[in-house]
Amino acid sequence: MDPVAGPPALRLVQVRHRYAPGAPEVLRVDDLAVPRGDQLAIAGPSGAGKTTFLNVAAGILEPSEGRVEVGGADLAAMRGAGRDRWRGRRIGIVFQTFNLLQGLTARENLLVAAMFGDVPRRERAARADALLDRVGLREHAGKRPSQLSVGQQQRVSIARALVNRPDLVLADEPAASLDQANAENVVSLLCDVAREGGHALVVVAHDPVVLGRFPKVLDVRHLAAA
Ligand SMILES: Nc1ncnc2c1ncn2[C@@H]1O[C@H](COP(=O)(O)OP(=O)(O)OP(=O)(O)O)[C@@H](O)[C@H]1O
Ligand SMILES: [Mg+2]
Repeated sequence: MDPVAGPPALRLVQVRHRYAPGAPEVLRVDDLAVPRGDQLAIAGPSGAGKTTFLNVAAGILEPSEGRVEVGGADLAAMRGAGRDRWRGRRIGIVFQTFNLLQGLTARENLLVAAMFGDVPRRERAARADALLDRVGLREHAGKRPSQLSVGQQQRVSIARALVNRPDLVLADEPAASLDQANAENVVSLLCDVAREGGHALVVVAHDPVVLGRFPKVLDVRHLAAA
């Protein structure tokens, strides 16, 4: 390992997952490392295990076997609320259906994420405003999700994923709810802001519009030797 670069943003070692004892194995990863600041797409048809991969990488789903490290920290060593807090600080997640808090404005959605991510109170507003500006939503910061277009909502969720300056940003089909022009814009924006902030980015998707934006695409079915 390069001592200057430090541990990878994400590493999975000998990971296997089945949803129940005796159920088929739906994820096999021998050794996958995503260097800090790198960008990677994981592809595969419906049911191939993309969301399973993402949830395992995020520590939302504990794999049946193997080790998952984010920034060198072993997720299995953490439990319950401690793991949730740690995830909030170190991993930004962009969900397919955004998962924005509907009763709050765009800006408040970012402020709540910053609060859970332990951003000092005096920094929260400035960070939220800078990110909303960066994703082109300065004029819309005071609107609730229902008052925003689908593409605008996804841009809020991208800004929210970055507000804690995470080591790792994970996105599950980030353009699935968008038409093609919006999909291209949103994925380009996600890649650009992740690069500018030095965050590693892993996107799982089957959409060629999304996959075409990544120089490196791996098939989720081929992450282990046969
Ligand atoms: N909670 C669950 N319990 C049992 N089986 C599950 C569960 N979630 C997913 N599976 C199964 O695991 C396999 C992989 O599912 P996964 O959701 O990871 O696929 P995917 O590649 O994300 O598909 P899609 O492109 O349709 O989102 C599928 O066979 C699915 O039926
Ligand atoms: Mg999926």
